Amino acid sequence: MATLQSECWILTGYPEGMPDDSTFRLERRPVPAPGDGEVGLETLYISVDPYMRGRMSPVKSYVAPLSPGDVIAGAAVARVAESRHPDFAAGDLVLAPLGWRTAGVLPGGLLQKVALSANRASLALGALGMPGLTAYFGLLDVGQPKPGETVLVSGAAGAVGSLVGQIARLMGCRAVGVAGSDDKVRWLTEELGFHAALNYKAHEDLRAALAPLCPDGVDVYFDNVGGAVSDAALGLINLRARLVICGQIAQYNAKNPPRGPRPFATLLVRRARAEGFIIFDFKERFPEAQQRLSTWVDDGRLRVRETVIEGFANVPKAFLGLFAGENTGKMIVRL
Ligand SMILES: NC(=O)c1ccc[n+]([C@@H]2O[C@H](COP(=O)([O-])OP(=O)(O)OC[C@H]3O[C@@H](n4cnc5c(N)ncnc54)[C@H](OP(=O)(O)O)[C@@H]3O)[C@@H](O)[C@H]2O)c1
Repeated sequence: MATLQSECWILTGYPEGMPDDSTFRLERRPVPAPGDGEVGLETLYISVDPYMRGRMSPVKSYVAPLSPGDVIAGAAVARVAESRHPDFAAGDLVLAPLGWRTAGVLPGGLLQKVALSANRASLALGALGMPGLTAYFGLLDVGQPKPGETVLVSGAAGAVGSLVGQIARLMGCRAVGVAGSDDKVRWLTEELGFHAALNYKAHEDLRAALAPLCPDGVDVYFDNVGGAVSDAALGLINLRARLVICGQIAQYNAKNPPRGPRPFATLLVRRARAEGFIIFDFKERFPEAQQRLSTWVDDGRLRVRETVIEGFANVPKAFLGLFAGENTGKMIVRL
């Protein structure tokens, strides 16, 4: 019998600055037959996420770096082709750490069943998966918003940010978003129910542009991007504000650490708290959040959008698009 082959996207080396097409190489690699306790998988949807950039660097952060020659790691939704694990059967849909490959074999212990139809299964990579959980715990646990407060979120039209603003609204807060185009601003305010939003690319003085959208100041700043947007937000924070440090995409491709305003004097004067978090910190409580998120998605209180790129050949293009703002909502690749 011919050995099954998987197409794989391989890291060619560590990019300096912005990665590009030369950062990735397409290869075919054999897929072994599943052994005892293992499951053979066919990929349906691949997630591309900003954190993957961190693994394409030799510096260890909260996850180990990839090595040149590795398949790019990450989450996917796959269909079980063959199972030698008692919990899985052919045809099941699963969330699997397959990375950028079209097929693979993994131990059953690494898989989670996805109880969604095939056409909705990508939600397990977005609103009902890691980005949804990040929005939920980052806002509610780290940010601790109270009704009537103002929640400002950067990267507001992305996978995490679009949910943060909607959850803030559900909590009775004023939700204000910052995003990179007029279309995104319209989507946030006209469809998602954000109270106000700003296109950061259309303003020189971001603080002056944001101030009228936050007439009572900012109580919770949910930071997905860092850089100039966060410098502006810092100038608007209230007494006892909470700064939720979720992501800093504006500097993921920086060759040298950028210099900016030093925030500590403002934190001191405002008696504010800035706290970073990584979603794994909340692992024990994922089921509670998934239950709540899926109720909100099902009953329409949370509106979800995906930018779906077709075809395995386009995985790097989809990933690079995150740094150019090409996605609205979650960026997904469908095979
Ligand atoms: N702490 C955690 O556990 C955790 C978990 C998940 C994600 N994160 C972080 O959360 C952030 C959002 O992740 P996501 O998956 O939801 O991605 P995303 O927001 O769906 O996609 C990235 C977005 O970032 C914006 N962007 C890109 N370069 C930018 C720049 N230089 N300045 C400002 N905005 C820029 C783009 O939108 P515009 O058009 O608006 O520029 C782009 O659409 C990322 O920083 C990610 O690393 C953290």
